Amino acid sequence: MKSIKRAIAHAIADVVARPTDEIARMLEYPPNPALGDLALPCFPFAREMRKNPVQIAEELAERVRQVDGVESAHAEKGFLNIRLARSQFAERVVGQAIASVHDLFSEERGRGRTAVIDYSSPNIAKPFGVGHLRSTIIGHALKRMMREDGWRVEGVNHLGDWGTQFGKVIAAYLKWGSEDEVRKDPVKELFRLYVRFHQEAESSPELEDEGRLWFKKLEEGDPEATRLWRWFIDESLRAFKQVYDLLGVEFEHYIGESFYNDKMDAIVQELREKGLLVEDQGAEVVDLSAYGMPPCIIVKSDGTSIYATRDLAAADYRHHAFGADTLLYVVGAEQKLHFEQVFKVLELMGRDYAKNCVHVQFGLMKFNGQRLSTRRGHVVYLEDVLQKAIEETRAIIDEKNPGLENKDAIARQVGVGAVIFNDLKTYRVHEVDFRYEDVLNFDGETGPYVQYTHARASSVLRKAEADAAAKWAPDYEPDDAEWALIFLLAQANESLERAVDTYDPSVIARYALQMCHAFNRFYHDHPILQADEPARTSRLALTRAVREALAKSLYLLGIEAPEEM
Ligand code: ARG
Repeated sequence: MKSIKRAIAHAIADVVARPTDEIARMLEYPPNPALGDLALPCFPFAREMRKNPVQIAEELAERVRQVDGVESAHAEKGFLNIRLARSQFAERVVGQAIASVHDLFSEERGRGRTAVIDYSSPNIAKPFGVGHLRSTIIGHALKRMMREDGWRVEGVNHLGDWGTQFGKVIAAYLKWGSEDEVRKDPVKELFRLYVRFHQEAESSPELEDEGRLWFKKLEEGDPEATRLWRWFIDESLRAFKQVYDLLGVEFEHYIGESFYNDKMDAIVQELREKGLLVEDQGAEVVDLSAYGMPPCIIVKSDGTSIYATRDLAAADYRHHAFGADTLLYVVGAEQKLHFEQVFKVLELMGRDYAKNCVHVQFGLMKFNGQRLSTRRGHVVYLEDVLQKAIEETRAIIDEKNPGLENKDAIARQVGVGAVIFNDLKTYRVHEVDFRYEDVLNFDGETGPYVQYTHARASSVLRKAEADAAAKWAPDYEPDDAEWALIFLLAQANESLERAVDTYDPSVIARYALQMCHAFNRFYHDHPILQADEPARTSRLALTRAVREALAKSLYLLGIEAPEEM
């Protein structure tokens, strides 16, 4: 779509005296397709051109009619309505989707640039919450989308592997824990110990002192404390990695908070030298009142440094070690202030990359409309959610397609895909609700529906194996249903760009849904294999193009695309 928009814009740029890119961006998709394929509102030019929009539209129509690929252009009520030469356009778009679906989606705008994406980043010895699930899924999709757009991307898991919770969990483990239980299910067992510690501390406050003591020992390098700490991390990581494997998510780097223990002094030192540190009730802080924010605490009154200081050290490290000019943080909206403060301090420290730091925040996830509260031990374990989705999918497959081969593998791909898609289809900052019935509905706006549509297109193509070279016939004029698909295919690149520019995978999820709706409408009343030529070869080519675009969209979201289900 971009190339035809550019050609149109180029043809009129001198008349309206605006840059080509700007005009290209002004070209709209009219809500009523009967009006045309593209429309240009001419009101914005009226003042500078000292003409009324009706006149301008007429003048521009003359020019646009001459553009290669344009069928007709006419002025109507101050709009310029443009119709494309459909079969020519179809031949080009379908051909491109088949030859290289990557090129259909991407102009590689990010080439030469590096981003670090911080995602998932759970806390050890604290529960892996649904916030971490959303972060994992969104961050992974973001990584794939940006890579598609030409960026070099390093995914970092900023594990919460340091903090006072370790003192508490060590104390709790020595009192009530067992080695076997930790080995069997580290995440649940450590969480159980964490919850028990807090419960018992209510009636026996001296427990808190014990927790503090163990953390102090850990900080001082006490061998017993260090051994348990390391062991909790190793066991938890093993459990997290099982979930990541199930989700198909990977990280280029696991760099926990403890990695920065020896890198924070330099930050504190620099802040002090630059005169940015002030004392505030015994703590050392950066005063941000000039920017309407509370102070950013750098060193606590007891001398320990905190979360923000670690993030300052981590940002520098990412910038230097990976050559990143862009740092993204996929973290729940409740940490908004924290990141605003950190980015502001980086800016005050003179870090050039601070302007390219983005907190990619997201809304809550609810289960059956209910908010989870980890305080009250009301948690949903990610692994359980995935296992249940897989089991239920397996039951659906047994009923719908009992003869399918590899049922287990496909149940896994579909069950997991369902959970991921449910998360990604909603606008990122909105809340997500999770209900198994909705998530797994093969006919709803779900992952299984997109995967099913992909499998349906694949099955048509399997039956037409001999026609692998099918092409859109230049003399075949698409009808409305076919045109809807072609037009959507042509928007792949714009979808990817919008998704990347807004850090929002839901743009791709909705794009895939639209494509599925359009394909299923087409499939419903257009014979493909039984059609006469040139419809047959054109429809086969179109089906292949759609299959490629759906597979790519699912890939970008981090979802697998089985050929059969
Ligand atoms: N572990 C933190 C938490 O669960 C999230 C870390 C996000 N990343 C960061 N660089 N602060 O709240």
